[in-house]
Amino acid sequence: MKRRNFIKNASLTGIGLAVTPTLTNCAEKEPSKNEKTVVTPKASLPLVIATWNVPNATAKAWEVLEANGSLLDALEQGCMIEEADVKNQSVGKGGRPDRDGNVTLDACIMNTKGDCGAVVAMENITHAISVARKVMEETPHVMLAGEGAENFAVSSGMKRENLLTEASKKEWEEWLVKAAYKPIINIENHDTIGMLAMDENGDLSGACTTSGLAYKMSGRVGDSPIIGSGLFVDNQVGAAVATGMGEEVVKTVGSFLVVELMRQGKSPQEACEEAIKRIVDKPNSNHENFQVAYIAVNKNGETGSYSIHKGFSMTTYQNDKNENVQSDYYVK
Ligand code: GLY
Repeated sequence: MKRRNFIKNASLTGIGLAVTPTLTNCAEKEPSKNEKTVVTPKASLPLVIATWNVPNATAKAWEVLEANGSLLDALEQGCMIEEADVKNQSVGKGGRPDRDGNVTLDACIMNTKGDCGAVVAMENITHAISVARKVMEETPHVMLAGEGAENFAVSSGMKRENLLTEASKKEWEEWLVKAAYKPIINIENHDTIGMLAMDENGDLSGACTTSGLAYKMSGRVGDSPIIGSGLFVDNQVGAAVATGMGEEVVKTVGSFLVVELMRQGKSPQEACEEAIKRIVDKPNSNHENFQVAYIAVNKNGETGSYSIHKGFSMTTYQNDKNENVQSDYYVK
């Protein structure tokens, strides 16, 4: 029998979560000075959400949580499903290469305590998310780049592999003939896997993994491994993760912005919409030509998602149900 914890406006029978009074959106009432605000998630827990249609990844993460596994194990193993899937050409093995034909991976992970780890522009190692986790747990650093990240992975027991599959190589060779670089909405820009999970205690963590923009310049790094841009988790407030044109997410520190907006009282949906609006409203915005999307969850287990253009979707695994739903979008 599956373990499940459905709490709906439950009484505070030891399952409530102590949070700071700044969480006005989640608080049942304004606390007096010495009184702790107790917030009970209204959602069915555990909960896993991810960018795009990745039911196998969310199912794996959910399975780990259901078996009493940790948030980080759930996120890592969920992301690993997509990293190993050569049909997913935006993540891990089989990812589309840069314009020189090298597959370079970016990933990051963040835990309930605000610790984080990341790898950028790493080659030859399929599971970038696992290396990011090891950076967080086994080094004094937050981020390792390029060869340093690869060597660290190998010294941790991971094996080097050729990440460029025949299918991705063929597409790249065809692209070389055209030799024009123009990211295409929802094709080149999609498929960064961002995953957020909430366990039965209402604790939050997040992860993000990508091969970045196809045919990028050598050395280009996007938002996905940058804490605050591609991913941000504040276990007192909520978590957010981004997908799409990383440069635009970095310029607006998107995921941090979404979490801060939730801290100020916005719902996850409102926060995602406001963060997209910030990109669209920039004076030099050319948002017609790129896609960005956010997904978010708050401490109540409420979720939201929003993108600039049609076509983005979020996968939610909750209540033993794996569901992929198209997100609302800005450009109608
Ligand atoms: N969001 C993935 C990237 O821009 O690299």
